[in-house]
Amino acid sequence: MSQNLVNIAYIGATILFILALSGLSKQETARKGNLFGMIGMAIALTVTAVGIVTENYSLLIGALVIGGSIGLILARKVQMTQMPELVAILHSLVGLAAVLVGFANFLSHDMNLQGVEKTIHDVETYIGILIGAMTFSGSVVAYLKLSGKWGGRPLLLPARHWLNLSLLVLAIYFGIQFVAESSLGGGLTPLILMTIVALLFGIHMVAAIGGADMPVVVSMLNSYSGWAAAALGFMLSNDLLIVIGALVGSSGAILSYIMCRAMNRNFISVIAGGFGSAPKTSAGPATEIEGEVTPTTVEEVSDMLTSAKEVMIIPGYGMAVAQAQHMVSDITKTLRKKGVNVRFGIHPVAGRMPGHMNVLLAEAKVPYDIVFEMEEINEDFPNVDVSIVIGANDIVNPAAQEVPDSPIAGMPVLEPWLGKTTVVLKRGMAAGYAGVENPLFYKENTRMLFGDAKESLENLFKQIS
Ligand code: TAP
Repeated sequence: MSQNLVNIAYIGATILFILALSGLSKQETARKGNLFGMIGMAIALTVTAVGIVTENYSLLIGALVIGGSIGLILARKVQMTQMPELVAILHSLVGLAAVLVGFANFLSHDMNLQGVEKTIHDVETYIGILIGAMTFSGSVVAYLKLSGKWGGRPLLLPARHWLNLSLLVLAIYFGIQFVAESSLGGGLTPLILMTIVALLFGIHMVAAIGGADMPVVVSMLNSYSGWAAAALGFMLSNDLLIVIGALVGSSGAILSYIMCRAMNRNFISVIAGGFGSAPKTSAGPATEIEGEVTPTTVEEVSDMLTSAKEVMIIPGYGMAVAQAQHMVSDITKTLRKKGVNVRFGIHPVAGRMPGHMNVLLAEAKVPYDIVFEMEEINEDFPNVDVSIVIGANDIVNPAAQEVPDSPIAGMPVLEPWLGKTTVVLKRGMAAGYAGVENPLFYKENTRMLFGDAKESLENLFKQIS
């Protein structure tokens, strides 16, 4: 395949990736966006395999078969609730690839570069391995945290900011040594030492972040994996990889910014760690929260809903766990047929990954035009007759506004307590992901419908129908 054809195909794939990103920004166009992305990736893979690779085809096909099979098995096996962990572990693979390609590139010495060109290439390799190693170890810790294998509490080492600064200074020092030694034919030792430093930095950075701030970490690692891919592109002189990496890197950075804004956090403070930790003055829930929990029954909730005019549904992580989205959709249809105005309020960090609730509701065919972002809907709560909170906790926690030393203090939340009645569907009184008690459950106008969300909704559906 001629270089011109490869270039044309790469430009076509790049356009498809840009269209994919723009499609994914709206629910209505997300499927089309996904399709563009898949076609773009198919073109990119085919053209790279046919047009760029000239030897070792058996190795390439072997790698494609093994990688493709693992991907297929994982994608089929993974539960929707495990998606965030899967994404985190996939980010770690991009980081690992950048490290391995960086070392292979450095050790193979087949580029024969001299002078400034060699220095530039060395810097590219060094930065690529640095970002790759941080992404790799950070993503592994994120995977462990998201899957509950590593506790949600942040690791707050003494003098942690100095530790971070020392690691950064060490990385720069080894970088200078690497470039100097590489020009004389050496450089492996500082490269290995920097890799160890970067791995430690990645672990420390994510370990220091508390449960409530994990959304920022997930999107930040998404961004890092993009930059790691872009660095791979520079090392391999592959323009398409540079462009895709930059697209993923910058969209991940925008997502991190959106997540920070959604949680009212400062990006630098989140990265420096320590947010989401337990309150310093933990006085225990009994003394902190006034009021009593009022349980309710399916019959009562059914009456409330059928006599309501305005209903707001607030889904959270528990809806994903219970896989209750289809039941939610059926109840919504029935209530709408009875003339009730049903809307959905979606918090930007509901669930465990960006857009988690939107994906579930789209899967259950809930119409897009009744699904609203928190910012669009929060002011309407005083007009709402019944809010149904389905397996959500942190995102409806008034402690964010009322308790100044709460780990979630300052995070914007949905405000169902301003409406007439709130019904909370959950199994018990467990805290949410951030580990914070929720005063909403004790408010006078809150009713608790205890049980698995799907079972409660199935009974509710029968009653309403
Ligand atoms: P959470 O605060 O995690 O609360 C979920 C609630 O669902 C729990 O209190 C649990 O209570 C209930 N639940 C679990 N399984 C259930 C079931 N089968 N039936 C009924 N209820 C069930 O969820 P949220 O309100 O969606 O908030 C999300 C949290 O995750 C935030 O702190 C956010 O920062 C964090 N986070 C988000 C992301 C992204 S990107 N969205 C990523 C990482 C972390 P019971 O056990 O008592 O039933």
